[in-house]
Amino acid sequence: MSRYAYVNGSYIHHEEASVHIEDRGFQFGDSIYEVVYLHKGRLIDQDPHLDRMERSLGEIGMEMPMSRAAMKLIIQEMVRKNRLKTGLVYIQVTRGSSTRDFPFPKTYRPTVVMTARRMPVFDPKKALKAIKVKSVEDIRWGRCDIKTTQLLAAAFSKQIALDDGFDDAWMVDQEGFVTEGTSNNAWIVTKEGKLKTRKADHDILNGITRQCIIRLAKNKGMEISEEAFTIEEALNAKEAFVTSASACLKPVTQINDQTVGNGEVGLISSEIAQLYADFLEG
Ligand SMILES: Cc1ncc(COP(=O)(O)O)c(C=O)c1O
Repeated sequence: MSRYAYVNGSYIHHEEASVHIEDRGFQFGDSIYEVVYLHKGRLIDQDPHLDRMERSLGEIGMEMPMSRAAMKLIIQEMVRKNRLKTGLVYIQVTRGSSTRDFPFPKTYRPTVVMTARRMPVFDPKKALKAIKVKSVEDIRWGRCDIKTTQLLAAAFSKQIALDDGFDDAWMVDQEGFVTEGTSNNAWIVTKEGKLKTRKADHDILNGITRQCIIRLAKNKGMEISEEAFTIEEALNAKEAFVTSASACLKPVTQINDQTVGNGEVGLISSEIAQLYADFLEG
């Protein structure tokens, strides 16, 4: 079956889709992106993702490249053309292409690209896939709250983790606190059963899944503290997990060479995964 990409107004066969070599997204990472999860035909949290896209663009001095209604139509068309039921829609907006020079061009035509890709349905009734993470120094820039495509530090950190036999890295700031995973938010469940995830400041991306799970867990009466934690605290915690639109929730059962809790997928992680799965069903 043909896969389609959207590039600046056209739907093109995926393998033929391209942008100009002087595109500022390619040259400087001068671009932002969003990833929306489609669950059994439902776009999950589409508006919060588009809100965050608008915010990311605003933070780098750009406006939405089209109306929200137009953006939603294109997303819908990408889902239809790619016959996607469950998967991810990727949207990227760059400051367009111009002669290679650092200053933002006074006038430009943004580049808008979308791709779509199949994914398995998130189903915590089947065993949740646990991951092992390695702690690495967070070497990213100071505005990780903006979802830019400057992802070399994240890719680099992930590769270090993979090369050492782990599944992902947890990045750690100068003060020794975990910021987040390379493409997800990090959580722990303390011995007392309290959920902890770092507060949303410039040091992390405020995950849409993170925000949703905070809401769902609060509604269930769970105690949550938006507070930074260290690797040591995580190793002393009962459970740990990560959240993102693409992974939904993945338990973390090992950090560096030590297990978290008893090394098994925890009850609270499983309960939250089920809460999120129920939310996905609508
Ligand atoms: C660095 C980082 N943190 C957190 C997240 C999770 O965000 P969301 O739940 O909106 O997917 C992502 C997702 O790509 C990410 O790249």
